[in-house]
Amino acid sequence: MRALITLLKRHNHAYYVLDKPSISDGEYDGLRQQLLALENQYPQLVQADSPINTVGGEPLPFFTQVAHDVPMLSLGNVFNSEDLAGFLRRANERLGVPIGEYEMELKLDGLAVSLKYQHGKFVQAVTRGDGQVGEDITHNVKTIRNLPLTLAGCEQIAWLEIRGEVLMPKAGFDKLNRQSIERGEKTFANPRNAAAGSLRQLNPAIAAARPLAFFGYSVNQGLPEHIATQSSAMAWLGDLGFETSPFAIAHTHDEIQAYYENVIKTRSGLPFEIDGMVVKVNDLALQNRLGFLSREPRWATAYKFPAETVPTRLIDVEWQVGRTGTLTPVGKLEPVNVGGVTVSNVTLHNFGEINRLDVMIGDMVNVHRAGDVIPKVSGVIGDLRPSDARPIVLPTACPVCDSPVVLPEGEALARCTGGLYCSAQQQEALIHFVARRAMDIDGLGGQWLIKFFEMKLIKSVADIYQLHTHAEHLMTLEGLGEKSVSKMLAAIEKSKQTTLPRFIFALGIRGVGESTALSLAQEFGDLQPIMDAKLEHLQAVADIGEVTAQSIYDFFRATHNIEVVQALLAAGVTWQPLAAADTADLPLAGETWVITGTLGAMGRDEAKDKLLALGAKVSGSVSAKTTRLLAGEKAGSKLDKATTLGVSVVSEDEFLALLERLGG
Ligand code: IVH
Repeated sequence: MRALITLLKRHNHAYYVLDKPSISDGEYDGLRQQLLALENQYPQLVQADSPINTVGGEPLPFFTQVAHDVPMLSLGNVFNSEDLAGFLRRANERLGVPIGEYEMELKLDGLAVSLKYQHGKFVQAVTRGDGQVGEDITHNVKTIRNLPLTLAGCEQIAWLEIRGEVLMPKAGFDKLNRQSIERGEKTFANPRNAAAGSLRQLNPAIAAARPLAFFGYSVNQGLPEHIATQSSAMAWLGDLGFETSPFAIAHTHDEIQAYYENVIKTRSGLPFEIDGMVVKVNDLALQNRLGFLSREPRWATAYKFPAETVPTRLIDVEWQVGRTGTLTPVGKLEPVNVGGVTVSNVTLHNFGEINRLDVMIGDMVNVHRAGDVIPKVSGVIGDLRPSDARPIVLPTACPVCDSPVVLPEGEALARCTGGLYCSAQQQEALIHFVARRAMDIDGLGGQWLIKFFEMKLIKSVADIYQLHTHAEHLMTLEGLGEKSVSKMLAAIEKSKQTTLPRFIFALGIRGVGESTALSLAQEFGDLQPIMDAKLEHLQAVADIGEVTAQSIYDFFRATHNIEVVQALLAAGVTWQPLAAADTADLPLAGETWVITGTLGAMGRDEAKDKLLALGAKVSGSVSAKTTRLLAGEKAGSKLDKATTLGVSVVSEDEFLALLERLGG
């Protein structure tokens, strides 16, 4: 509570005294709400200097101070339909009679000013100050063009006090700032500050040059007795020549809500800025009966617009596992209304973001949401960090499948190693597994695969080979007859006879594409040696970098992955081992080729198969280990690299001639 008080006081000073707000209104309101909630929860701890019960800033020393006849109080806030319902319910219950009419006004974003007219002549203008005592700014207010200085028909009213808002319309504000830029002078942050800065001038000539306007919203002394409602008081102000806040009448909560939603939609078209609307009990006698609670009327409330940035507490961080196994930190928040929507989760993206924000669990964070944008944390309020804040740590086990989690060095994203086993990743793993270039199970086209997954007939890729046990069930599914089921099962059966590179590729190990799978098969000859391979050995394989080597190593250290592999083998998936001895006698044994560009006579895959059959290794990238580069049309960077490294380059014609000669 002390930390919030210190912070609010600092922001109050910046806003009211310096006319230079340090945070947005939404952030300010959010902090204020936090303090208010604590004060309600712990009334015995309410501090004497709590800014909750003071209004505005201290009066400025240069101006004459004037005590208000009637204190200038503030308004309570509601932020959503439920809050509004609560406000209406309390007012109705307190009165014991239903309130028939509410008057609604726009909440103008300027400065509250009290005006005094003596026998119909303007005599004094005073700022709100601290609510009890304000500053005399008569000299400046007198220069406001839309302010009537004499009120026709009010000669008999000894003292008339009118309150309202002095503001700077948007167009005037833009023009003023443009002129300031041209003159190399400082600009104002927003129209409200420009209005405040203009009224705090000692020299009235400056205020006179500023495009200010006054809008009335209440008569606090001298209202003719026959006027019994707020709406007729507003109409009377209009008759006297005042501009007033636009106003309307509503009878129910839903009518107020509908008006509010409409104001939000039309707000940007208004000539001045507003930060909400004000709901008032229309009957002035009822207003009197309701009275005030501390500094706020019970007969009126501000219905604020949803702020786009609001502070709240980060209570925990959970980790969400994506389809590709990446772990994303999701912040759990104390629910807040941001931009009209209740937000209780927010993505923290990755560790880079967490470090950038320097955020800990327990921190107060500013949550931002503009339009349809996903809410995000825009910053941490460091001054409010609790002593028991905890750092955000990466879990060691996947929250979905309990497999080990790794954070590769130099990467921002952590991953679950449970590839084939992790249910968060299974759908993706399944689609990859049956792909044409992997296990090539054509008959199990994408849509059925997903359907079976959703029906929980298939969980891991190994379950594909158990589908035949559900044959009868499958035949009863709409769109699947006996014939298509047996075709599907035949395709599955056929896929059991595969090649080692295809199988390795099908496992979907991160970073292991087709050519890496091939390099692995060529290097190790069979699956078991790959599963047992030391990290250094994996790193030494052509075409495999450190990150991929690590991911292969991790994949085969996750028990669950091994279980799935074993289930696949047990189901009868098999291949001919590519024993190293098999290739030793072949004509291109010991050579490592790379293929690039477009070939005319055949596809690159076919060329690759031919080279493999002749005993060559085929790698995806040119390195010092490359023996020859087969370069087709439009060869690019690989050709450049080969030339630089002095690797021999073979044209397609030369390649075809070689095949002729070697009988490939
Ligand atoms: S009525 C007892 N009506 O909002 C206070 N206030 O947060 C009755 N404001 O100090 C105030 N437009 O500066 C009222 N149509 C409106 C208003 C309005 C803007 C400002 C005013 C007031 C503050 C309260």
